[in-house]
Parts: sequence; structure tokens; C-alpha cells
Amino acid sequence: MRITPHISAAEGDIAEAILLPGDPLRAKFIAETFLEDAREVTSVRGMLGFTGTYKGMSVSTMGTGMGIPSASIYITELIRFYGVKRLVRVGSCGGLTADVPMRGIILASGACTDSMVNRARYGGWDFAAVADYGLLSATAGAAHAAGLEVHVGNVHSSDSFYNPVPNALEIWQRMNVLAVEMEAAGLYGIAAEEGARAMCVLTVSDHLVAAEETTSDERERTFGDMVTLALEGLFADAN
Ligand code: HPA
Repeated sequence: MRITPHISAAEGDIAEAILLPGDPLRAKFIAETFLEDAREVTSVRGMLGFTGTYKGMSVSTMGTGMGIPSASIYITELIRFYGVKRLVRVGSCGGLTADVPMRGIILASGACTDSMVNRARYGGWDFAAVADYGLLSATAGAAHAAGLEVHVGNVHSSDSFYNPVPNALEIWQRMNVLAVEMEAAGLYGIAAEEGARAMCVLTVSDHLVAAEETTSDERERTFGDMVTLALEGLFADAN
């Protein structure tokens, strides 16, 4: 019997901890490369999800699609109907400051947004969409232990990849926002409302300030560093 409209996994098929890339093929790559005994648990609309283990800890990974509306459907169903408790988005972002270089790793301690979803949740006021402190500090600790540099700060979750606001970049930079992406504020709002814990790890895949090329090999290595870091953060948080 199907539990939700958008996920075909059976009850108990999804772990309490999940990594959420935007791209479902990245979920497949994570499952095949970083998890042990991984098996596919859902594939509705091609939005693949897998469950396996990392260092003996049960972990799932599933694509969210792009943008807050798509991601919100999956995130809500995962928490509300599958009992997922810890959610870590592993995504890419556009860098906004020269201090965070191409391929740099960001831990999004907070997420600003032009989306209305959190205002809708919060009576029209401005909800501070923040990462779970336990997950954030465990992941920052794991980065430190691995000698991996991370940048911790605000990101902007935009409803538009092709932003129509002419001075958006100037506004983000004035407020010291590190990067732009499209899901974190939605994830943090839902997690708060549903009583789950969430955070977001990002790699800078393109840069709006420092124009620099990156090869697909480099992108894959950076993505791998980020996934390992996210898994180590989840593991440290649980142990
Ligand atoms: N804008 C929004 N989301 C993104 C970007 C960007 O430039 N790069 C990667 N995700």
C-alpha cells in the first residue's frame, strides 16, 4: 500500500537520517559510492531514493528536484509519513563573495529567501530559517578533524535561477550572504514546523563574482568531499 503520493517506499524502508541532493542521479551516485548494501527504495517520477549504511549507521539518500516547491513535497512526506528525523541537503550553489572560492564548501547556518513559504508558515512575519545547531556543529567538527576548510554563514534560497531582480547581487553582498541556491530555506522551515533537524552543505559550482572554470573531475571530487563530510557529520551527531 502506497503511503504518500510522491514516494513509493514501504514503511520502514527509509532511514531516520537522509542526504538530499537536488539531482536524483546524484542520489544514485551517493548510494553506489558512499553507502554499503544500498538498495533503491523509491522511483516515483524518476526521483530516485536509496537506503544503505555508513559505518553501520542506516542512511538514505533521495533527490529533491530543484527549488523549494519540489523539495518541500519530498521533505514533508519524508518527515511526516516516513518518520525521517535528520535531513542534510548536499547541493551546489553560486558563490557571492571572493572569500568563498569556486569548489569551496559552505555550511548554511541560515537561509534568507525571496520565497513566501516561511512567511505563510509564520503569520506573515519573518521566520529565521536556521540549521539545526547539533548537526551544524557536528559537521563543522568533522570538517576540522578532516582538515577540510568550510565557510559557515547565511545563504540565499531563491525561487529564481534566472533572477529578475536587477540589484539582487548587490543586496546579497551588502548583507554578507555567502551564496545563492534554491532549497535551504524551505528545508529549514519544514524541519522547524515538523519537529525534525536539518542542515545544508553546499559546494560552490559557479561563481557570480570570481569567474573561474572548473572541470567535471574537479566537480566530482568536490562533491565527494562534501558527501563524506555530510555523512561524517551525521555519524558524529549520532555517536
Ligand atoms: N543560483 C541559484 N542556484 C544555484 C546557482 C545559482 O547561481 N548555482 C547553483 N545553484
